Amino acid sequence: MSQLTPVLSAHWDEKDSFTIEGYKRHGGYNAAAKALAMDPDAVIQMVKDSGLRGRGGAGFPTGMKWGFIPQGDNKDHYLVVNADESEPGTCKDMPLLMANPHVLVEGVIIAAYAIRAKHAFIYIRGEVTHVVRRVNQAITDAYKAGYLGKNIFGTGNDLELVLHIGAGAYICGEETALLDSLEGFRGQPRLRPPFPAIAGLYARPTVVNNVESIASVPAIIANGAEWYQSMGTEKSKGATLYSLSGHVNNPGQFEAPLGITLRQILELAGGVRNGHKLKFWTPGGSSTPLFTDEHLDVPLDYEGVSAAGSMLGTKALQIFDETTCVVRAVLRWTEFYKHESCGKCTPCREGTWWLVQILRDLENGKGTEADLQKLLDLCDNIMGRSFCALGDGATSPITSSIKYFRDEYISHLTNGGCPFDAAKSTLFEEVLR
Ligand SMILES: Cc1cc2nc3c(=O)[nH]c(=O)nc-3n(C[C@H](O)[C@H](O)[C@H](O)COP(=O)(O)O)c2cc1C
Ligand code: SF4
Repeated sequence: MSQLTPVLSAHWDEKDSFTIEGYKRHGGYNAAAKALAMDPDAVIQMVKDSGLRGRGGAGFPTGMKWGFIPQGDNKDHYLVVNADESEPGTCKDMPLLMANPHVLVEGVIIAAYAIRAKHAFIYIRGEVTHVVRRVNQAITDAYKAGYLGKNIFGTGNDLELVLHIGAGAYICGEETALLDSLEGFRGQPRLRPPFPAIAGLYARPTVVNNVESIASVPAIIANGAEWYQSMGTEKSKGATLYSLSGHVNNPGQFEAPLGITLRQILELAGGVRNGHKLKFWTPGGSSTPLFTDEHLDVPLDYEGVSAAGSMLGTKALQIFDETTCVVRAVLRWTEFYKHESCGKCTPCREGTWWLVQILRDLENGKGTEADLQKLLDLCDNIMGRSFCALGDGATSPITSSIKYFRDEYISHLTNGGCPFDAAKSTLFEEVLR
């Protein structure tokens, strides 16, 4: 279990890993050729059997999602890849696209064929110009090779793939806001039902999947569902990209079977930075409740993290050592959610604003202990009452930090300000920057 299982990241260290030649040298595009010779339903079944679950946060079974697309309805179907990756701490899709954009293109070909889509879109975060260039080149090369466009692989199937560049809003990662944005509207979540599988892009049946989910498909088709199932745990199958950042000696992406623990990943990453110890961490980005050093042995799969009171989310492991003020960290994240709240619903739009005011005062030693209860009451009125999961996510760092670090909040009040030495906090500023 402590072993890395490089599948997606197997050739990232090769100089030309991002080129079509580099990709084909290791069997690239053979899986697409194999899938196109299969019945589309058999492709869906294979992905179902593999146990692959969506890597965009919610962990919904990918094959099942594809199976929801109505067949024989004489409507256009669409595949949309979510490459927005804006969750604080999440850094797996962009490194994947930089190192190997062709694995996503190949996954798109297979997924589009399976759901009978002739048009696919990659919605990519606008700020990442270097990644955009790389994916654009990969798409151009795939068109030239006859893997995209008309009569792909000489099979009589057509597929057009469009790269759409977003304008930099966290909410546009939420799948229905993404669809609105792709259609040219302001990116705000849609009411469900109808779900995208019935009325998605241009009101047509649509699958929205994360980059890593789609990029995982070629290896499943090439090696079989059983091979994929042999990795991971009972209900969380396969290997995945964990992104490790913050106060660690060797931050980066670690591809390992689901169910590995933070203790094991930290060993692979050279541990918490020298001379310091773990204080708190996020298992799946800032929208997931914080863990502490008590949780080092929690299996990092969907069930294990949830049983311990958090969520696996995007597997963004942000590590903070004892020099970090938790109140300050939570304030920063909350400022982010306030800024990124799309304003459509009142609990999130107003609530995140108030959360910031109270947290800012607490961090400066102003207020009373009753303000902690006020924060929790506000969170209670946002959680489960917001229109989309952004509001819920905004409450996670607050409720979990009060649960584990109540004394640290109180010490800001008794101290008349942040008890952490300003010099020590400088490093934290650097980490967040
Ligand atoms: C505020 C918010 C932001 C999100 N950002 C992303 C994102 O950047 N990338 C992503 O794949 N999913 C993101 N999601 C989840 C998507 O709504 C959706 O569940 C996901 O793209 C489905 O893909 P999957 O089934 O392959 O995981 C976000 C959700 C919310 C509520
Ligand atoms: S929860 Fe926030 S981001 Fe989501 S719809 Fe409401 S205001 Fe917009």
